[in-house]
Amino acid sequence: MNISVFGMGYVGAVSAGCLAHDGHSVIGVDPNRTKVDLLNEGRSPIIEGEIGTMIEKSVSSGRLRATSDVQEAVSQTELCVICVGTPSQINGNLDLTYVRRVCEEIGAALRERSGYYIVAVRSTMLPGTMRDVVIPFLERSSGKITGQDFGVCIHPEFLREGTAVADFYQPPKIVIGEDGTRCGDLIMRLYENLHAPVVRTAIEVAEMVKYADNAWHAVKVGFANEIGALSKAVGIDGQKVMQILCQDLKLNLSAHYLSPGFAFGGSCLPKDVRALSYRARSLDVKVPLLDAVLPSNEVQIERGLRLITSQGHKKIGVLGFSFKVGTDDLRESPMVEVIERLLGKGYELKVYDRNVDLAKLMGANRDYILNHIPHIARLMVRSVDEVLTHAETVVIGNRDREFQPFLDRIRPGQVVVDLVGIGSSRSGEGSYHGIGW
Ligand SMILES: NC(=O)c1ccc[n+]([C@@H]2O[C@H](COP(=O)([O-])OP(=O)(O)OC[C@H]3O[C@@H](n4cnc5c(N)ncnc54)[C@H](O)[C@@H]3O)[C@@H](O)[C@H]2O)c1
Repeated sequence: MNISVFGMGYVGAVSAGCLAHDGHSVIGVDPNRTKVDLLNEGRSPIIEGEIGTMIEKSVSSGRLRATSDVQEAVSQTELCVICVGTPSQINGNLDLTYVRRVCEEIGAALRERSGYYIVAVRSTMLPGTMRDVVIPFLERSSGKITGQDFGVCIHPEFLREGTAVADFYQPPKIVIGEDGTRCGDLIMRLYENLHAPVVRTAIEVAEMVKYADNAWHAVKVGFANEIGALSKAVGIDGQKVMQILCQDLKLNLSAHYLSPGFAFGGSCLPKDVRALSYRARSLDVKVPLLDAVLPSNEVQIERGLRLITSQGHKKIGVLGFSFKVGTDDLRESPMVEVIERLLGKGYELKVYDRNVDLAKLMGANRDYILNHIPHIARLMVRSVDEVLTHAETVVIGNRDREFQPFLDRIRPGQVVVDLVGIGSSRSGEGSYHGIGW
């Protein structure tokens, strides 16, 4: 293919070098004359593994060259890849100056170009940027229409500096955010020989995935460092601790606990995070990430409450209120907290959980309900139907499969607030509200 790559920084130079190495005809575009001259001399504008040799070979074989002339680059290619920088502003916001400018320039060149053109964006941009900035700027400056005269897609880059070439050929995944399929189909032709999971999704989802990825990596580093600091303070080898943590592929390094839903609770997580934070405080070890975990959980409870009360109904039903499905343990159940707060505000509640049936409960849990939360015991009913008949807003509080069929029986005027995601496929329906979807 004939491809132009805009921005000869880390991402652009690696993409241009690898694409040319794979046999495509590539034009690198950058307003920086030094970078353009360097590339045309066969030298890499960045230091990155074997990219220097790859660029040198591609330039001498004529498959790669560079220019600052946007018009020339667009007219001689069928696809352009935008890799310009998206740095931080002083206030932390994303600086889109380069994105806006490159879209204006490409758009102006498209005005003069006939035939369908593809614009793929690899720069990291917050959700909504494609729709609010890239597409309008391209349309305005080209006088053409997306989807009709040219196609756009967001194609986030996941390479890491230092191993960028290896990451190009063995990416953790290939993600394409698109409206139609024409743009993505063409992009996929670039990766015919690669073996990597391919995700083709909505534009905004792809934009967000890149941020979720990087935030997750940052959280992982911060977490490991705090565990290390705390371990060292008590004379333990933190690397050993984290190596053992990482050996657990079932609960630790897995999709477990990584789906948005309601707050955590139960007899272990809150208690143990609290104790760890306390120990760190008493040792004068700062662990801001760990300290933020319980407040973050508290915010999720408030978010759930707001979602419920914002429906404007007085009669609320709760399906599932033990801290997770399959248990009768109510200790530190976030749903119990929600029920108590709603009760305090004067809402009329009926609550049901098949695992929390007073008639069947014995021992500690029965004592806990009767002694600690007798006000909740009074709200408990013995079937889903009793909740449904009563409630104007039905809250789903744990993932019991028993609640699934009810979603098909919502009556007019009745609203579902799903805190756990068992009905997430209904997202967008007026009577259905998910907490994170
Ligand atoms: N560096 C990484 O490891 C990495 C990894 C994944 C994603 N990203 C994202 O990719 C994007 C690029 O990152 P980078 O590190 O390569 O940036 P960079 O700052 O190294 O390079 C950006 C290049 O864009 C050029 N540029 C600016 N305006 C231009 C224009 N109008 N036309 C053509 N070129 C123009 C600049 O001169 C510069 O050479 C950013 O959004 C970044 O967040 C970076």
